[in-house]
Amino acid sequence: MPNHAMSQASFPEMYERWLAGPLFRPWAEMIIEEVALSPGDRVLDIACGTGIVARVARERLGDAGYVVGIDVSSDMLAVARAVAPSIDWREGNASALPLHDGEQFDVVVCQQGLQFFPDKPAAAAQMRRALAKGGRLAVATWRSDDEIPFFRELRRVAERHLGAIADQRHSFGDAAPAEALLRDAGFHEVRLTTVSRTMRFQDGAPLLRLNTMALVGMSAVGREMGDQERKRVVEAIVSESAPALRPYADGSGLAFELSTNLATAEG
Ligand SMILES: C[S@@+](CC[C@H](N)C(=O)[O-])C[C@H]1O[C@@H](n2cnc3c(N)ncnc32)[C@H](O)[C@@H]1O
Repeated sequence: MPNHAMSQASFPEMYERWLAGPLFRPWAEMIIEEVALSPGDRVLDIACGTGIVARVARERLGDAGYVVGIDVSSDMLAVARAVAPSIDWREGNASALPLHDGEQFDVVVCQQGLQFFPDKPAAAAQMRRALAKGGRLAVATWRSDDEIPFFRELRRVAERHLGAIADQRHSFGDAAPAEALLRDAGFHEVRLTTVSRTMRFQDGAPLLRLNTMALVGMSAVGREMGDQERKRVVEAIVSESAPALRPYADGSGLAFELSTNLATAEG
């Protein structure tokens, strides 16, 4: 695996290079199908990261499409800008969206961001404010990793080194709180579904390394480590994960089931 390339790239660059295509694009396409874009729709992508959902919306709407992506991380946005300079990327917090006076959208999407927001009611209120009357909302959050054997088994290997890890990426997996959050924010026609898909990685090694780095970063023990110690633990977990990955081997790559909640609503 291209270890040298990964150790030189920033996390947002690795996210874009190794995860955006195989892991996030299929779901971005699903979300954009779900909101059924029409020509002229204004689209807001909250917690856009490196911008995969906004970019899929732009592909569908063409150059005339009005697409805005907002994220709290300037580093993620720097990659988004480099990949798609013509989209309006804005730095800001989901609980205080940087919108112009009276600015509203026909479509608001948030893919795998809500679980990270410390103030979810404030973020839901901001989504409501941003959505025009009759507009469409779609929000996706991964199911708990206890339901996703691939990620559960990899977490267990990491926990042998780090103790219990609360994986924030899978921390908003129940449908009921997501549904209540959107209803309480004043959305109409709130619907929650669970969608499962088989994810395929031609080369599973970058996914394993990035997932391991994320797990170490989310563990209390990992956060206390110096750089050298953290690198050593990442290497140890990566090599010990090989047996856990064996059931998912698919040629030279990996195939595994992943599931998400998909909430849709109207303004
Ligand atoms: C897993 S990434 C998802 C990115 C993108 N939506 C995608 O599908 O690839 C989560 C993103 O949420 C962003 N984020 C976390 N907390 C945020 C907040 N309070 N406001 C805005 N963005 C936030 C992170 O910076 C990160 O880019």
